Amino acid sequence: MTSVFPEHGRSQEEVLAALADHRAKDLKSDGHAFAFVYDAGDDARAIAREAFVASMGANGLDPTAYPSTRKLENGFIATCLELVRAPQGAVGTATAGGTESVILAVKAARDFFRKTRPEITAPKMLLPETAHACFHKAAAYLGVEIVTVDVDETFRAKVDDARAKMTKDVILVVGSAPSYAHGVVDPIPELAALAKEHGALMHVDACVGGWVLPFLRENGQDVPPFDFTVDGVTSLSMDMHKYGFAPKGVSAVLMRDRALRDAQYFACAKWSGYSIVNSTTLGSKSAAALGAAVAVLGHLGRARYRENAKKMWSATEKLCEVVQTTPGLRLLAKPDMNLFAFTTTEGDVFELADRMTARGWHVQATYAFGASPAHIHLTLDPGNSENVDAFAADLRAATSDLPPKQEPPAQVLMLLGQLAKGGEGAAKIDSSMLLGALGIVDGQMPSKSAPIHRLLNAASPDVREKLLVLFIGELFA
Ligand SMILES: Cc1ncc(COP(=O)(O)O)c(C=O)c1O
Repeated sequence: MTSVFPEHGRSQEEVLAALADHRAKDLKSDGHAFAFVYDAGDDARAIAREAFVASMGANGLDPTAYPSTRKLENGFIATCLELVRAPQGAVGTATAGGTESVILAVKAARDFFRKTRPEITAPKMLLPETAHACFHKAAAYLGVEIVTVDVDETFRAKVDDARAKMTKDVILVVGSAPSYAHGVVDPIPELAALAKEHGALMHVDACVGGWVLPFLRENGQDVPPFDFTVDGVTSLSMDMHKYGFAPKGVSAVLMRDRALRDAQYFACAKWSGYSIVNSTTLGSKSAAALGAAVAVLGHLGRARYRENAKKMWSATEKLCEVVQTTPGLRLLAKPDMNLFAFTTTEGDVFELADRMTARGWHVQATYAFGASPAHIHLTLDPGNSENVDAFAADLRAATSDLPPKQEPPAQVLMLLGQLAKGGEGAAKIDSSMLLGALGIVDGQMPSKSAPIHRLLNAASPDVREKLLVLFIGELFA
C-alpha cells in the first residue's frame, strides 16, 4: 500500500484520486442498498456537500468564539422540538449521532438522580430486548444496570413485564419509536405512565423514526403516540443523519426541561488550561455536518419530507405484501414505519441474503436474539422506492428453490462450545483458528457471507461479541 504520508507531498489530483479509489467498493446511494443508506437524491446531496465545506472550520467547542455554531444548533433544535411537539421550556442539543444522543440521555438521567435521589447507588434502566445496542453501550460506559423487558409476538415491549420488573432504583424506562430491527413502536403511553408513577424518567428512542413519523401523521396515517405530547416522556432522540437526509454526524437529544439537560452537560474548571463546559461527549467538534443538516432542511422543506415519507411507506406496504404472499417467507411483524424484518419458513435465510447480494441488492442479515429469529432486515429510503418491483421479483426468484436451513460444520460448533465454556479450552483457541473457521484469510472476506452468518448466528451473544471483536481487530491490525 502507498504510504498516506510521503516524504514529498503529492498533487491535489493524485491525493483526491486516491480517496475516490478507496470509495469504489463502498455501498452506493443508488436505490440498491436496503439498509445503511438514507438519501434524498442528487440535489440534497449536492447542497449538503457545499454546506459541509462551508461550515467545516467552525468549532462547536466554543459557541462564543464561533457564534455560527450556536445559530445553527438553535435553529436545528427548534425544528426538532416543533416536530415532536415538545412543550414550552423543552430544550435540546445537537449531537454527533444516535449513539451519542442515547449516551447523553442516559448520562442526564444518571446525574439527575445522583443529585436529586442520592440514595440510589446502583441505578437501573428498564430496556426492551429490541432496543438498540447503543443503550447497552451507554449502560456499560456509565455504570447503569440494564433490566431487560420482554416483548410480545409483535416485538413490542410487554408493559406487564416492565411493571413486574420496576424497582425503586430504576431511573429510566426506554421505548423505541420505532425499534430498528422490526420497525414497530413500543407502547410509549403505557411505559411513560409506568415511569411517571414510579418517579422514573422516560426516554423515547426516535433515532430512526423522528424524521418520518411526524410526516406520516401529517399525511393522514395512523401513527402510534410516541412524542412529547405523551405524558411522562422526559427525553427523546432523533437522528438527522438517518431520515433527516443529512450526512453522517448529526442527531438531536431533546429534554422536557432544562434541569434534566443541565445534568447532561459536563463542566470542568479543575485544571490549568481553559475551563470547559461540553454539551456532548466531544470537546472540539466541527460544525460541518450540522451546517449540512440545516442546509438540507432549508432546501427540501417540509413538503419534500412529507412526499418522501409517503413514497417510503407505500414501498414498504408493497414489499410487506410481497413477503406475505411469497411461499417460504414470513413477515416478523407489520411495521409502523418503513423498516421491517422477514425470515424464511424452511429455507436458509443466510443463503437468501447471499442470493440477493449476488443480484445487486444490499440487505441486512441479522442473527437470532431473544424472541427474534435470524432474519433479513430492510430499511427503505426514497431511492429504494423506485426499485421495489425489481427487488420484489428478485426476492421471489431467490426464494423459490432455497436449500433448507444449514448449521455450521461440526468442528466449528465444537470451537463455539469451547469458547462458550471459557477456561483452558477456550484459551487454546487462537485467532487464526477462528478466522479460518469464519473463512477469513489475511483479512480478506470470503465471497459468500452465509457461512460467517451461520456461525455467528449459532454462537451465544457473548461468544458472538468475542468473535466480532476479534474480526474487527483483525481488519485494523
Ligand atoms: C432506533 C435506533 N437507535 C439508535 C441508533 C444508533 O444510531 P447511530 O448509528 O447514529 O449511532 C440506531 C441506528 O440505527 C437506531 O436505529
